Amino acid sequence: MEKIKIILDCDPGHDDAVAITLAGKNPAIELLGITIVSGNQTLDKTVRNALNITQHLGIDVPVYGGCCEPMVRKKIVARDIHGESGLDGPVFPPLERKAEPEHAVNYIIRTLMESDGDITVVTTGPMTNLAMALRMEPKIAEKIKQIVLMGGSYGNGNVTPAAEFNIVADAEAAYVCFTAGVPMTMVGLDVTRRALCYPKIVERMAKINNRASKLFVDLMAHFCKTQKETFGWEGGPLHDPITIAYLIDPSVLKVKPMNVRIDIRSSDSYGRTNCDIFDYLGLPHTADVAMDIDVERFWDIIEENLRLYD
Ligand code: BDR
Ligand code: CA
Repeated sequence: MEKIKIILDCDPGHDDAVAITLAGKNPAIELLGITIVSGNQTLDKTVRNALNITQHLGIDVPVYGGCCEPMVRKKIVARDIHGESGLDGPVFPPLERKAEPEHAVNYIIRTLMESDGDITVVTTGPMTNLAMALRMEPKIAEKIKQIVLMGGSYGNGNVTPAAEFNIVADAEAAYVCFTAGVPMTMVGLDVTRRALCYPKIVERMAKINNRASKLFVDLMAHFCKTQKETFGWEGGPLHDPITIAYLIDPSVLKVKPMNVRIDIRSSDSYGRTNCDIFDYLGLPHTADVAMDIDVERFWDIIEENLRLYD
């Protein structure tokens, strides 16, 4: 079976950490590089978190630091959910790994331009790095096999009533990516809020009792607590790893092609992903939007993947 080549662009982040765990060992995936953006916390912290996760799990994949500021708007972070470090909870051994000297945006451009057009770019943070890459070298648009992003929502947001964090944190970047003419799959809150990590799921993963499952348990202890404080849910929605689970097994999601437009003009709805589910506007379909998720299959994939570690 030919592996799916991916670049994972992320802002770890508890759920990003699980996405890295999934992509780092699954036999269906070839993780070429991990590129980091400011998002859940500032760039220095999200880079450090990615290095800690990969060092701890023995994931031998280069990590590249990227953009520390959004393209236009003022920077926001998600301290309420992910804490002061961006990954509060787990305690890691001393960090020896270092980020690569090359900037993430240059890495993305170089890797795509040297490729045969067979690389999928997965984004689980604000889309700043990819948007900057598209602006610096527009020819990469023809080289990207597809973009699979965690972000947006056809329903409510989670930062404002209209907008989801990854989009609102850099809506101009999302606008650039959504108008680049690249095939896209949007995994939004509509499905990720159905993958709630209830205590019984944490107990199930704890039974695996290896390095990856212990990390998962430590991550979820903090993440589920802050999700409960902020949104009142008993289980935290495990947003980001659904992108990778979908690549491993596309039956995890039901998607529908439609026109999606990023609102960068309004004040109340800045960062909203306007999804034309019913084709009111008769505009070209620009993204496959996740409409439904097989939650049981998703947790099975998480368990199967945690078991791949020692
Ligand atoms: C997204 O925002 C971040 O806090 C999470 O890591 C996820 O990527 C959910 O809105
Ligand atoms: Ca994220």
